[in-house]
Amino acid sequence: MIDENFLKEQKKDCIILAHNYQIPEIQDAADFVGDSLDLCKRAAAVDKPYILFCGVDFMAESAAMLNPEKTVLLPTYDARCPMAAMLPAEKIREAKEEHPGAAVVLYINTWAEARAESDVTCTSANAVKIVKALSEKKILFGPDANLAWHVARNLPDKEIIPIPSDGFCRVHVMFKREHVLEQKEQHPEAEILIHPECKPEVQKLADHICSTQQMVNQAKASDSKEFIIGTETGLIYKLRKENPGKTFYPLLEKAVCRNMKMITPKNFQEELKERKNVVKLDEKISERARASLDRMLTLSG
Ligand code: 13P
Ligand code: SF4
Repeated sequence: MIDENFLKEQKKDCIILAHNYQIPEIQDAADFVGDSLDLCKRAAAVDKPYILFCGVDFMAESAAMLNPEKTVLLPTYDARCPMAAMLPAEKIREAKEEHPGAAVVLYINTWAEARAESDVTCTSANAVKIVKALSEKKILFGPDANLAWHVARNLPDKEIIPIPSDGFCRVHVMFKREHVLEQKEQHPEAEILIHPECKPEVQKLADHICSTQQMVNQAKASDSKEFIIGTETGLIYKLRKENPGKTFYPLLEKAVCRNMKMITPKNFQEELKERKNVVKLDEKISERARASLDRMLTLSG
């Protein structure tokens, strides 16, 4: 349990941002809960000296890039996204040499060093919009090959080159075509919302391809009463909380991101008290990565 009086006191100089996959106690304690894009937008408008970021490494790095004069804290350094580790900066430099003139668009699920090598960042919410806005036809896109497939499917005039060729999220590749078909048979009226980190065979069965926050928005706006949710199960809590009259079926109960769940009420409260796990970025790398992030924020409006 998170002590409410303690939380209130700590929030005087610290804003708490949390991703949609966080456990319910953390979501309820946070000032703002959202997807990667909305968390960046919120982080860009912080007016307190401290930010406690409840999410994985690349998200906290984005908040730090956007707030070089503030202190960004993590409940634990262990909350790391394995997909971000699939695209080190060196691989991007090699790909740029191989494809001169191509634009480099990096999914936000990458480390600052990698994003410093990119022209623009994107998230699952705006990847198609960002690539569409570029004048270059040839695009180096990484690290998620499934998101790259989603972009290529929507923008057939562009040449999308995934780097690496096989980057993936361990959680979202658990979903298979059969899972969707089984759920659809059990809940024929349900709308199917799928995250673009899922494999093409799963994306092809979706009614809507959505970021996590777009799923929440779609569920609110839709006349449907039931939804099959193809993403990490942590989102179900927010969907149910914000849509009391509607029913949500996780596509697969075991689709849990253990990295996101490294944040617990215990390390959350400890960090609020001790303020020792600071996100540190090299100044030059941070400036270059921030330019890529700023371009995304401008292009996505
Ligand atoms: P969203 O930006 O859609 O919340 O996705 C983040 C993520 O890590 C998905 O696995
Ligand atoms: Fe990374 Fe996948 Fe976890 Fe998202 S769900 S943080 S992409 S491992």
